[in-house]
Amino acid sequence: MTATTPATTTPPAAQRAALAGIDLWHSFGRTEVLKGVSVAIAPGEIVALMGPSGSGKSTVLHLLGALLRPDVGSVWLAGRRIDQLSQNGRSDLRLHRFGFVFQFGDLIPELTLGENVELPLRLTGVKASTARRLAREFLDRLGVADQADRLVQEVSGGEAQRAAVARALVTSPEVILADEPTGSLDTITGELVLEAFVSAARDLGTAVLLVTHEARVAAWAAREVLLRDGRILGGVEQPSTHPSWTGQPKPLPSPAPPAGAPWPAR
Ligand SMILES: Nc1ncnc2c1ncn2[C@@H]1O[C@H](COP(=O)(O)OP(=O)(O)OP(=O)(O)O)[C@@H](O)[C@H]1O
Ligand SMILES: [Mg+2]
Repeated sequence: MTATTPATTTPPAAQRAALAGIDLWHSFGRTEVLKGVSVAIAPGEIVALMGPSGSGKSTVLHLLGALLRPDVGSVWLAGRRIDQLSQNGRSDLRLHRFGFVFQFGDLIPELTLGENVELPLRLTGVKASTARRLAREFLDRLGVADQADRLVQEVSGGEAQRAAVARALVTSPEVILADEPTGSLDTITGELVLEAFVSAARDLGTAVLLVTHEARVAAWAAREVLLRDGRILGGVEQPSTHPSWTGQPKPLPSPAPPAGAPWPAR
């Protein structure tokens, strides 16, 4: 392990990044989950984080979102170190500057979908009528406006997941951290979610980290990062110097070999 990075100097990889984790190590008890993970996301960039189950993807997301503190390493938001902030400082950042979609959902069951989406706006002082209008707008974009008055338990898993995405987007955050945000969705509804992330990245410069198991979903990202055995395969990721979203998703992966190439011998 290396020593914790001093709080004062922004490492080069974090300087132009919207969000960067540098040399992150993390253990749960005796299980060492992350062994020096570095990842940086530029403003307007969508990065897909992939890796086997249990490889530490959610842990990376929780560290980057200042929900967990790394044992070693540092996390930087717009060039400012955030992992050493107080509990209150970190919750404040999470509310104002991040949008989260958690893997196992965390909508408040006592509230309707609409109220859940309004909540982060109300907590940041947006007036009720504006919060209501914006919440409806995002629920509509994700195809669940007609479920806005239903309680979480009265809607399907996929409808709740889309409301969670609406809640992450509604505050126009600088960064979205989304853990399997299309996991309960079919291809068409999954695309509504991905299109919403793309417009946030392209139109607002939101940096998006998208955890997924699906190549079809990762194909929407400008860059894929693979986590294995507690490390990022391919070494330290550098942020792009410009928003990397090109306006088009990468072509879908093709199962066929290039024309003229033989199928590999079995
Ligand atoms: N709070 C915790 N306490 C103890 N161990 C944990 C805790 N959270 C995660 N782990 C362990 O850390 C490892 C990485 O977990 P993590 O949830 O980050 O994996 P993941 O890549 O997101 O997996 P999946 O694709 O299944 O969601 C796993 O072995 C898991 O059991
Ligand atoms: Mg996970």
